[in-house]
Amino acid sequence: MEIINVHDYDEMSRKCAQFIAGKITSSERIVLGLPTGGTPLKMYHYLAQIINENNIDMSHVYTVNLDEYVGLDGSHEASYRHYMQTAFFDKVNIPDENTFIPNGKASDLEKEAADYDRLIEELGGIDLMIMGIGRNGHIAFNEPGTPFDQGTHVIQLTQNTIEANARFFESDDEVPGYALTMGLQTMMNAKSIVLLASGEKKKDALFRMIEGEVTEDLPASILQKHSDVTVITDTEI
Ligand code: GLP
Repeated sequence: MEIINVHDYDEMSRKCAQFIAGKITSSERIVLGLPTGGTPLKMYHYLAQIINENNIDMSHVYTVNLDEYVGLDGSHEASYRHYMQTAFFDKVNIPDENTFIPNGKASDLEKEAADYDRLIEELGGIDLMIMGIGRNGHIAFNEPGTPFDQGTHVIQLTQNTIEANARFFESDDEVPGYALTMGLQTMMNAKSIVLLASGEKKKDALFRMIEGEVTEDLPASILQKHSDVTVITDTEI
């Protein structure tokens, strides 16, 4: 694991945006795995800026998002589809048909999960996956206890995650109890991974991810077993 220490949130966001931009400037087809949450917001801002200033063509860029809340469709302001449109997709010239996010309103969620894994396979796998980390060490929505060998699946969110994400909703009660998430196996299959973490709240999870034992109790610890992981963080560990 390579750890890049930066001074603050702004530097973390800028560095990550520059790194991604460096990967998409050539016209080679690329599949990006993309996260949501508070952490990557400014990264998307800088990435859109670089893409537009340099007229980077996006027709060869495909994106698969990590997760989506069950029960929310793209018109819901807290859905991850809505987040991605407003934070990034609507700001750049990426074709709509290149962007994929699990459908949280699917009538058959098990089928939606299996279809999502098939889609990733058909795209040729994920070349570069960007992700954040939850305070309890979750990545995407893989909560503590999730088996390491799972593909995309439905998961029940923990109270800790519901509380942490309630700021995007009117109240805790509005946060869906379930989500569709890429599994840890899906994520580990990505060729390279960049993990972003900012602030003291992530310190404990980050420390255990890097230094602790590899255990399903801390889902992010599986990343120790991946050969190409870069962590960009302003958190001193
Ligand atoms: C949610 C997302 C994760 C994200 C985490 C941390 O649970 N599903 O992908 O990493 O939140 O979010 P934040 O960046 O807001 O701290």
